[in-house]
Amino acid sequence: MTAPEQAPPRASGAAPRDSGTAGSRNAQDADGDHSYEIGAPVPSDGVEMWRLAVESRTLDANSRYAYVLWCRDFARTSVIARRDDGRAVGYVTGYLRPENGALLIWQVCVDPVARGAGLAGRMLDAAWDQAVAEAGTERMETTITPDNASSIRLFTKFAERHDTTIEREDLFGPDLLGDEHEPEDLYVIGPIAADKGGNT
Ligand SMILES: CC(C)(COP(=O)(O)OP(=O)(O)OC[C@H]1O[C@@H](n2cnc3c(N)ncnc32)[C@H](O)[C@@H]1OP(=O)(O)O)[C@@H](O)C(=O)NCCC(=O)NCCS
Repeated sequence: MTAPEQAPPRASGAAPRDSGTAGSRNAQDADGDHSYEIGAPVPSDGVEMWRLAVESRTLDANSRYAYVLWCRDFARTSVIARRDDGRAVGYVTGYLRPENGALLIWQVCVDPVARGAGLAGRMLDAAWDQAVAEAGTERMETTITPDNASSIRLFTKFAERHDTTIEREDLFGPDLLGDEHEPEDLYVIGPIAADKGGNT
């Protein structure tokens, strides 16, 4: 995997988790009443991301090494969510595109036990807030397969919260991804005004 360039992370390789971020509100999940702590990951969180990706059976699960490296180099544009019992239940991986500075969201994953409680939306908001603080980005991009209704809904809601548009275009088809992989459509969200927080 070729990792895109990005502004270097802080000296530790990652910012500490910030339980005070706007994206870290309490919620309930299928296991009961849990508080989610959402923040920038550290390299050891890459192991949890890898586990969640494998267990999702939906995402392209990359190597364990890829997630650990990601958490080292792209911590400021990624987040991990943990319950108050310490269990990792979700993550977002993102990077700033060198070409235009947009926050490219690569994977969003929520443990089945925590789905339906709005966690993915809150993680997306937290990753966005981090990217804005890091680089003043104004656009989000992501790729979604046409059959992923929950993901399309997730990003459409993000655009609505930020009072902006979302546009789709063809990106990668079977000529690049192979016949075994669904096409990946590009979704572009923005521009998003600096004061359009989605966390209210
Ligand atoms: C997609 C995923 C991240 C959503 O996580 P989540 O925490 O349950 O999502 P949220 O609760 O924030 O819901 C976001 C929106 O999607 C909707 N949604 C959730 N699951 C859905 C489904 N199966 N079909 C249609 N809409 C769905 C929700 O209703 C919500 O919209 P609403 O506010 O209008 O009701 C999660 O289902 C998942 O990890 N799936 C497997 C991996 C994956 O496909 N990731 C996305 C591609 S990278």
